[in-house]
Amino acid sequence: MDRLKGKTALITGAGSGIGRAAAALMSREGAAVVVADHHPAAAEETARLVEEAGGRALPVTVDVTDDASTAAAVAAAVREFGGLDVLCNHVGGSDPRKDLDLLRLDLDEFDRAVALNMRSTLLGTRHALPHLISAGGGSIVNTASVAGLVGDVVQISYGAVKAAVVNLTKSIAVQYGPRGVRCNAVAPGAVMTPALRDNLPAGVVESLLACNALPYLGSPEDIGHAMVFLASDESRYLTGQLLVIDGGMTAQSPAAPGRRAMLPAA
Ligand SMILES: NC(=O)c1ccc[n+]([C@@H]2O[C@H](COP(=O)([O-])OP(=O)(O)OC[C@H]3O[C@@H](n4cnc5c(N)ncnc54)[C@H](O)[C@@H]3O)[C@@H](O)[C@H]2O)c1
Repeated sequence: MDRLKGKTALITGAGSGIGRAAAALMSREGAAVVVADHHPAAAEETARLVEEAGGRALPVTVDVTDDASTAAAVAAAVREFGGLDVLCNHVGGSDPRKDLDLLRLDLDEFDRAVALNMRSTLLGTRHALPHLISAGGGSIVNTASVAGLVGDVVQISYGAVKAAVVNLTKSIAVQYGPRGVRCNAVAPGAVMTPALRDNLPAGVVESLLACNALPYLGSPEDIGHAMVFLASDESRYLTGQLLVIDGGMTAQSPAAPGRRAMLPAA
């Protein structure tokens, strides 16, 4: 219950999905949470849920692609709770209708994906670092994706920028490890959030399921639990790492589903 007691955690994109689950779980472990989101009503709703469960939360409106807005969100966190121990650079994504294959990619969408996933991670970290260092180190948890680990037929920008988030994670860990700062990333596989539900054409969810070793898709809490671990001192010797949480999707040979037919009937 007290794994994050006394800590303050700022989570971007905490108005929905995985970020909302992470805010609730971190609060349950004793953290004061800064619920930073583009959508003011969404941030307020997450903060209300956290407070209803007995936690402390500050809703903050932020555009993570904007330097001044990100600086203001970090400043608000420090003003309200007196410091910062955990930063989750969680916002990300791309529009699968515009982020297509290389020849049909909308270049504006490419720029948006860079800003939303990569620039945001860089900006959030730059503004939080002085506070993390003065709090004795702290932990940064970035959100990558399995899409950054493999090639795909669509969303060429998304895969590339999530791969960049993994590399940023390692460089931040190396550059600021000597000052006690840890930086790790999570790579979710298919997780049932509003983003996934609303953006995928019919039938894609079933095909994702067929790719998993486990017979189910992830929940926002499945990723949130890992974020709690990476935020907490339990992971104090872990830095510069990527934790893949994907139901076995990337562990499995693409041939595996077909090869099941080679097994004798049970
Ligand atoms: N859902 C999945 O299956 C999945 C898989 C792999 C990785 N991810 C990653 O997880 C993260 C969040 O995904 P989710 O599924 O929880 O999404 P979501 O859509 O449920 O939540 C995203 C939140 O980010 C906020 N947001 C969007 N743009 C913003 C901006 N410019 N500034 C501040 N806030 C902004 C939205 O208002 C929303 O509340 C992303 O980085 C995504 O790439 C998700």
